[in-house]
Amino acid sequence: MTLPPALEAGDIFPDTARARGAHLEIGGCDVVELAERFGTPLYIYDEASVQSRASAYTNALARSYPGRSLVCFAAKAYCAPWLLRLVERQGLGLDVVSGGELHAALAVGFPAGRVYFHGNNKTEEELERALDAGVGRIVLDNLEELARVARLAEARRVRQAVLLRVGPDINAHTHAHLQTGAADTKFGLGIASGQAAEGLRAALAEPSLDLRGIHAHIGSQIFEIETYAEAIDRLFALAASLRESGLDLRELSPGGGFGVRYTPEDPSLRTEHAIAQIGALVATAAQRHGYARLPDLTIEPGRSLIASSAVALYRVGSVKPIPNGRTYVAVDGGMADNIRPTAYGAEYTAVVADRLADPADTEVAVAGRYCESGDILIQRVKVPLPRPGDLVAIPSAGAYQLSMASNYNMAPRPAVVVVANGEARLVRRRESYDDLLRSDAEGGAASPP
Ligand code: LLP
Repeated sequence: MTLPPALEAGDIFPDTARARGAHLEIGGCDVVELAERFGTPLYIYDEASVQSRASAYTNALARSYPGRSLVCFAAKAYCAPWLLRLVERQGLGLDVVSGGELHAALAVGFPAGRVYFHGNNKTEEELERALDAGVGRIVLDNLEELARVARLAEARRVRQAVLLRVGPDINAHTHAHLQTGAADTKFGLGIASGQAAEGLRAALAEPSLDLRGIHAHIGSQIFEIETYAEAIDRLFALAASLRESGLDLRELSPGGGFGVRYTPEDPSLRTEHAIAQIGALVATAAQRHGYARLPDLTIEPGRSLIASSAVALYRVGSVKPIPNGRTYVAVDGGMADNIRPTAYGAEYTAVVADRLADPADTEVAVAGRYCESGDILIQRVKVPLPRPGDLVAIPSAGAYQLSMASNYNMAPRPAVVVVANGEARLVRRRESYDDLLRSDAEGGAASPP
């Protein structure tokens, strides 16, 4: 049987995805059975894929970089207790960007020392919680925050380890909303404007701040390694220019952002190769800028660790051919569980998970069920013409879908299962209608009638 190209590609679906007869199988589980057992929309994560990426990235960095290194998972890509525990067991660190993500990390007993607290406007309460928990690093974004952390740390008589987030003024070739390292950005302090140097001097002057080094994140969905090379060079040049002022560069973080493949047309990128290149680039740049003692190297992949580890599974409700137009295949999810196509024009591919053997010979649009014409999950994809009741599986669904999911149109958020060795465990139950009203004070479940 000829399998759909996305399944053949190997890096779009989870590692364990294969055909069991005409059905899609993941982690040894038939997804048709999973849909019957847990309902749809259903997010299916393959545990083996997450584990293998986590260890591949850690090994790639350890092999390519002679200094100490740490892979931190950027929790914003998907912050769920089961995943945080898995990431912790793999020895990774964690990048959190809010009190909520910090709370989730602490709730599962993630070692606070391996937690990096990011964000461009952390509140005083969040900073207090982070300091009290003893987070490993606070990544300072601006001068006000720097002063705030210094004051709060001093009051607690602690010396907090910090990094300063700087903007290397790099234009990553990615969607404008996913760029963060350009000069005119809300993140960090710019190198070119001199603000980064000012921030570093200010941090050095605060006795309660232990300035370990600098951090930059240049964007997301980046495929060109040259973009990182340029940023890394600028980070070292900045650090070297402040050597005389007492800046001892003990840690450097070029962030995350490694691109992943969503469709067979996207370029293929072996993330572990890109990470090994980053390790080598940092080691070379350190030498070039006169750093005999290598700084600790931290990277923060979010998307690449988990995107292709999951598929979103939907049930087809209707198939509507438009005369002289497209055929709309409407599924039972959409922009509430995956805002990415609407927000960024993100492209996806799909297979009909119960009919893998049928030729993918019909071009259709996969439409969501929400009341908005922009709610189209896939504009064009070739599949066997779906019938109502068929299952559509959209791969590369593991990152930034559930973490950005909403209750738009009062949609309960989907159930999530983790599959491994033929077993599926429910790690998040489907929300109920009562869940939707739980926080409402008037007429909701929170107040008696
Ligand atoms: N570190 C920092 C400081 C970040 O801001 C981000 C992502 C990451 C690491 C992880 O980047 P990754 O490896 O996941 O690309 N919602 C968008 C993506 C926003 C990324 C924000 N920052 C999307 O769905 O494409």
